[in-house]
Amino acid sequence: MTELAPGFLWGASTAPHQIEGNNLNSDFWANEGRVPGMERSGDACDSYHRYREDMQLLADAGLNSYRFGIEWARIEPLPGLVSRAELAHYRRMIETAFELGLTPVVTLHHFTSPLWFAEEGGWLGDRAVDRFRTYVETVAPILEGVEWVVTMNEPNMLAIMIGMARAFQNPQAAGEWQSPTLDNEGPRPQLPAPDVVIGQRLVEAHQAARTVLHERTDAKVGWTVANRAFVARPGAENNKRDLEYVWEDLYLAGSRGDDFVGVQSYSSQWVDLDGIEPHPQHPDNTLVGTAYRPDALGIAVRHTAEVTGGLPILITENGIATGDDTRRIAYTGEALEHLGKAIADGADVRGYLHWSLLDNYEWGHWAPTFGLVEVDRETFERRPKPSLYWLGETARRGRI
Ligand code: FCB
Repeated sequence: MTELAPGFLWGASTAPHQIEGNNLNSDFWANEGRVPGMERSGDACDSYHRYREDMQLLADAGLNSYRFGIEWARIEPLPGLVSRAELAHYRRMIETAFELGLTPVVTLHHFTSPLWFAEEGGWLGDRAVDRFRTYVETVAPILEGVEWVVTMNEPNMLAIMIGMARAFQNPQAAGEWQSPTLDNEGPRPQLPAPDVVIGQRLVEAHQAARTVLHERTDAKVGWTVANRAFVARPGAENNKRDLEYVWEDLYLAGSRGDDFVGVQSYSSQWVDLDGIEPHPQHPDNTLVGTAYRPDALGIAVRHTAEVTGGLPILITENGIATGDDTRRIAYTGEALEHLGKAIADGADVRGYLHWSLLDNYEWGHWAPTFGLVEVDRETFERRPKPSLYWLGETARRGRI
């Protein structure tokens, strides 16, 4: 049994575009309409209106934290036009979390941007960093009392998504949209590596946001990095290090000066002399085609602790796409054992937030279900799964 840090956070994570519905002014909404193979988010889980019910489910299960996001496209639907009503909406969400005894972990950017920002050149545009800084200045006042703020979710996956979105601007673009969390079959995984130039720009934007937040709030500030938990085949150690740099370490180095770093882990992959090995075809693979690897969380935490020099860690996402909730419980239980071992070995971990609270819109697809709670997409009725209560009981025990 591993003892946990006092005030350890136990909860679940979501992202605005995946659950709120009708994110009409965002770039992703626009792409949904024009990219072949993409399903639409539509009303999503209607959490824009039902957030209290969602938070109540977490609190009733015995969890003490909720990670959710603020949607830039709602706050600033046109450049410089700030919606006071939307600021008030997100402040109400923060206050609802406080009222229900949930520590909010608030994400300011989770893949989606206002459409105007994308049309102005997006993250590679000349004004990108200034635009993001201004948005963060706009939301800083509603963050009063919030202890944990994530400037940006998975800049490394965002760097891939930007590349894919650009490819789709070309009408001759072959193929169909693929969610970055979906792994294609084939001789080599077909996701491109994150674009280093975009990555450097995102580091700059993150650090600009952090400066604003440190000046204007009392929050601990960090960002979250998708971790691929690479493991080298004999002789492929250098390959692994090179791949780790573009996939993760560039972004983990961007955490220098932060107050914490978010670890997001789902699976693990081998690296051989030819690069990343595809996930082996196996009946145990998840609904997004990745290998069932609960040990990935331990690998991810150890790697992050090493590269960041021991920065406090929050597990901001960990979970499994499955239609079988007993598999979710088994996966999560095993992942927590690996987490417990990493903590016992000295990793400074402050919380575990499961992905995800709800079955939601998985970036172009509805089929992969990651939720602790099922959602009826017509009535929006929430149906908690046994895994929600299982996680609550684990939290109450206070040890791993
Ligand atoms: C992560 C994303 C999150 C969700 C999970 C499954 O890459 O941050 O929005 O898609 O994967």
